[in-house]
Amino acid sequence: MEQDLYNQGPCGFVDIHCHCLPGLDDGPEDMPQALQLCRALIADGIVTVVATPHMLSPVSDITDVKHIYTMADALRNALQDEGLELTVLVGAEVTLSDQIFKWLDKNQLPTLNNGPYLLLELPSSMVMDISPVLEQFKERGMDCILAHPERLGYLQNTPGMLRKWTQLGACLQISAASLVTGSRWFSRTRSLAWKLVQEGYATVVASDAHDADVRGPMIRKAFHALVKRLGLAQAVQLCVENPKRLLEGDSPVPL
Ligand SMILES: [Fe+2]
Repeated sequence: MEQDLYNQGPCGFVDIHCHCLPGLDDGPEDMPQALQLCRALIADGIVTVVATPHMLSPVSDITDVKHIYTMADALRNALQDEGLELTVLVGAEVTLSDQIFKWLDKNQLPTLNNGPYLLLELPSSMVMDISPVLEQFKERGMDCILAHPERLGYLQNTPGMLRKWTQLGACLQISAASLVTGSRWFSRTRSLAWKLVQEGYATVVASDAHDADVRGPMIRKAFHALVKRLGLAQAVQLCVENPKRLLEGDSPVPL
């Protein structure tokens, strides 16, 4: 009989990266699809999700941050109408751009749960040292959480750069699907994801779910894999404790 290892841990998962708001990016197209994704999140054991639609990205339709808050309210109401229990907080997945600080100055880029952390996506096609950008965030009393750095193949060969980024306050968010065999990601993405976890660079695991099927949440599956390789305490730290700390504006606990 397969043992449900999650039952050995504390309460549900906290997901800091998810495209669950309808009609804003490449996530759900409408509210029924958004509710379908939320049902999948709940079935996966997630109790709190941060809605992080793409911003400053070609797939983003957001021209005003108010759209995010409006859709988050609409989703909360729809969840309540359906009797579904899921806490929805607001954030965004912001693509690195020379517009970032201009948009921040206009209060147009939501940080995670209105705290000091911004979820930042780097382009995977070019090698770049983002240290000056991280320093600028620090000067503003903010830190970046790098979305799925395991997709940046060049980090495999530049451990010095990664060390520099983490010393400048960057946190690393590994996507659950990257830790799981049979997911859509290449094996080199999986091997870098596990390397970042096992070498202690990873801060948090999140779903980056876009729908209920092909890009669905896989946190429970990733959690089980983490328990097997690292033990229960570190799996809980990556999937429950550190995401909670980030949402409360606290420093994460290193692995
Ligand atoms: Fe994402």
